[in-house]
Amino acid sequence: MGGLSSEREVSLASGNAILKALTEKGYHAVAIDVGRDVAEKIHDHDIDVAFIALHGKYGEDGAVQGMLEVMGIPYTGSGVLASALGMNKTISKQVFRSKGLLVGPYEVIYAGAADRVHAILEEIKFPAVIKPHAEGSSVGVSIVFKKEDVAPATELAFEYGDEILIEKFIKGKEVQVGVLGERALGAIEIVPKDSFYSYKAKYEQGMSEHFFPARLPDAVYKRTLEAGLAAHRALGCRGYSRVDFIIDESGAPYILEVNTLPGMTATSLLPDIARGAGMSFPELVEEILRLALWSKPTVSA
Ligand SMILES: Nc1ncnc2c1ncn2[C@@H]1O[C@H](COP(=O)(O)OP(=O)(O)O)[C@@H](O)[C@H]1O
Ligand SMILES: [Mg+2]
Repeated sequence: MGGLSSEREVSLASGNAILKALTEKGYHAVAIDVGRDVAEKIHDHDIDVAFIALHGKYGEDGAVQGMLEVMGIPYTGSGVLASALGMNKTISKQVFRSKGLLVGPYEVIYAGAADRVHAILEEIKFPAVIKPHAEGSSVGVSIVFKKEDVAPATELAFEYGDEILIEKFIKGKEVQVGVLGERALGAIEIVPKDSFYSYKAKYEQGMSEHFFPARLPDAVYKRTLEAGLAAHRALGCRGYSRVDFIIDESGAPYILEVNTLPGMTATSLLPDIARGAGMSFPELVEEILRLALWSKPTVSA
């Protein structure tokens, strides 16, 4: 838990909630705050399996997963490749499209070519979304409504890396699908009190309303669950994930992203979905643990 990304605080909240649930279930669990010395700490604690409660860079992008592979330690959630794909919004969009999932219009801009943004917006039109290509928790994401919004939004997004995305703003319902094992557990609808599901709307009490199940016609709900599972599979995810969609007015599910390490506080969305599907938070945590690969490679001394 913890880690070195912009989502450190969220990760500590996820990690502490998971720790409590594991302890309640009778596991001997220790908290490891991930810093540059994480390999030493893991070695010192002599752990059997790592329950990864990190979000963002190094934790969700395959880096820590790769380190654990090298150390021969099983871990929860997706492997190296799926984690890296999921973290990269540009590459994952290409994979989703290749599998027939609905991806809204978007363009990529690299640092040094920021002036392209105006030409792109002539095509994509306002409102549009400007975001970093590899962050989470809505960090660096802006909705732009007019010309004057563009420069600050572009600068903000570039603070998080040298590649940003300009997307068409899809008007509709924000719906997220929880996937556990090989099953879509359900879909939850979020109604943010902000203009979108911002950092504030995600983490401040009372800044968003949740509806489970999402208020969609049966056929649309079913289609969204299918799209969620298809996205999880498209990236080759393992164990669990949460897939973000905007459902437009015609009922078409536009995928935004797959979160390979979704928030895991007792009030986060995946736990909310699991609860709606009849599973308590400790039960969800235990199931995720069970889905980790337990087969420890034999490392000769
Ligand atoms: N193309 C879009 N159309 C409408 N809303 C969007 C779009 N892209 C992002 N958003 C809003 O911004 C939020 C964060 O965007 P997302 O791509 O999921 O990034 P993050 O990884 O930070 O969660 C979404 O939950 C949604 O509210
Ligand atoms: Mg998201």
